[in-house]
Amino acid sequence: MPFTPGLEAYRKQVESSLESLFETCEGPAHLIEAMGYSLFAGGKRLRPVLLMATHDLFSKNGLDPMPAACALEFIHTYSLIHDDLPAMDNDDFRRGRPTNHKRFGEAQAILAGDGLLTEAFGLMARHYGDSADSSVIHGIAEVALAAGSAGMVGGQVLDMTETGHDLDQEQLETVHRLKTGALIRAAVRCGAILGHANADELDRLTQYAEAIGLAFQVADDLLDVLGSREELGKSTGKDQAQGKTTYAGLLGIQDGRNYVADLTSRAIANLEVFGEKAESLRDIARFIADSVGPQNN
Ligand code: IPE
Ligand code: IPE
Ligand code: MG
Ligand code: MG
Ligand code: MG
Repeated sequence: MPFTPGLEAYRKQVESSLESLFETCEGPAHLIEAMGYSLFAGGKRLRPVLLMATHDLFSKNGLDPMPAACALEFIHTYSLIHDDLPAMDNDDFRRGRPTNHKRFGEAQAILAGDGLLTEAFGLMARHYGDSADSSVIHGIAEVALAAGSAGMVGGQVLDMTETGHDLDQEQLETVHRLKTGALIRAAVRCGAILGHANADELDRLTQYAEAIGLAFQVADDLLDVLGSREELGKSTGKDQAQGKTTYAGLLGIQDGRNYVADLTSRAIANLEVFGEKAESLRDIARFIADSVGPQNN
């Protein structure tokens, strides 16, 4: 499923900034190699693209959102390395190559994840440290809250402790909102905060982000059943075997698709006030909906 040309342009900018920012990370060669191995393995860059596209809704105010966008991708990549560990999902293929622990061993994979997480905050501190604009510290706090115990890490804990137990839809939604929705929400909110969005704009964008964040993990659940390792670049068909409750299992494929379509159109409805300028954000919502195939009309 390709990005639209507009999203592809954002992705390319992110890619080249990731490369130059990663060059500033220092440490033992083996560790840097392991961090770069997963960072430059061809992820979609959805979260940094979301941050950049959201920031572009607002007029330029001298704050470059790119370091925050790249920091989010560092954090997301760390979360994938740890998610694949034998103690968690025990996967051996990610972003089209063997998982980090398969290539470098478990200890190095844990440390490569730790390195990426810590460097993410280091690079934001280095780039924004001299700014007197208080939106910088609010943006960074947003990212920390979303990545930490009340966000992604908390969601991963629930995902692990709930494995093997049947969840109802409300309980599953909580896991998904935390493990995946939180970073997507932070991408949008951080872009808006750095752009000096007003309270109403931030509220609408938050509603957009919460809807696509949930849609993204519902789609990921469906793709675990529908997709192939070749298409997705990661192991598939494992959720059910591992005893995870997923939307594919709870709703079935067709109702799952309809739910993704419903969430993405609800997301888009929140963008009306931004007019044409929000087309890239609409494209991201459509990209998520299209990834799981047609809905039932
Ligand atoms: C995969 O995220 C893990 C989830 C949160 C569902 P992505 O589908 O964004 O993975 P990459 O970054 O493209 O590899
Ligand atoms: C991933 O959820 C969530 C995070 C990495 C935080 P999954 O475990 O479903 O992601 P995939 O399917 O392995 O990419
Ligand atoms: Mg997982
Ligand atoms: Mg996983
Ligand atoms: Mg999955």
